[in-house]
Amino acid sequence: MPGPTADLFADDALQQPAGREQIGEQSYVLRGYALPWIERLLPALRSVLAQSPFRQMVTPGGFTMSAALSSCGALGWTTDTTGYRYSPLDPRSQQPWPALPDVLRELAVSAAADARFSDFDPDACLINRYVPGAKMSLHQDKNERCYSAPVVSVSLGLAAIFLFGGHERGDRAQKISLFHGDVVVWGGVDRLRFHGVMPIKEGVHPIMGPQRINLTFRTAG
Ligand code: SIN
Ligand code: FE2
Repeated sequence: MPGPTADLFADDALQQPAGREQIGEQSYVLRGYALPWIERLLPALRSVLAQSPFRQMVTPGGFTMSAALSSCGALGWTTDTTGYRYSPLDPRSQQPWPALPDVLRELAVSAAADARFSDFDPDACLINRYVPGAKMSLHQDKNERCYSAPVVSVSLGLAAIFLFGGHERGDRAQKISLFHGDVVVWGGVDRLRFHGVMPIKEGVHPIMGPQRINLTFRTAG
């Protein structure tokens, strides 16, 4: 398994720009960080999705989210007309969510450590699927029981423009392009910053096809 900084000095022109970009006091984009894990990650993701397929969920306000969702780990994030929450059961099957695969845990823990959050112990991985046109409105991740752990977000497939705002919904948001394999980590004083994703542009990714998949790891319980 390559170490967390193994590709920092790679000169392979086919790779995304490698390295760590600071986007907040305790927030980083780790360019291409997930690429060395991809070969192990994709079969694990496929097996999770065979058990708990993507589905479209409804917000408490009655809107159907444009991103389709699934989860793995001890807790999964869900929404319906009664509210947002974490649940140990997949509401679709009433069975526990698929376990968090080792490769996903390793990647998330390693990325968190690279962003100076040691001892990250995720128990929830939310999986979002965006087809072209799908988006995620500005929001805070605040259904978790405590905010001392960071959020680790892995981007796969089509590129996205990630909006990284402030602590108020109206604060100006940075626009950050995220590519296949990029990882964003935010925590500490930045843990509750508003964030979102602009509508995904049409396209076909050579590995992932016409979609973007995002994995967000959290300590929820
Ligand atoms: C999220 O905030 O849950 C998803 C962020 C992303 O898709 O990059
Ligand atoms: Fe979020």
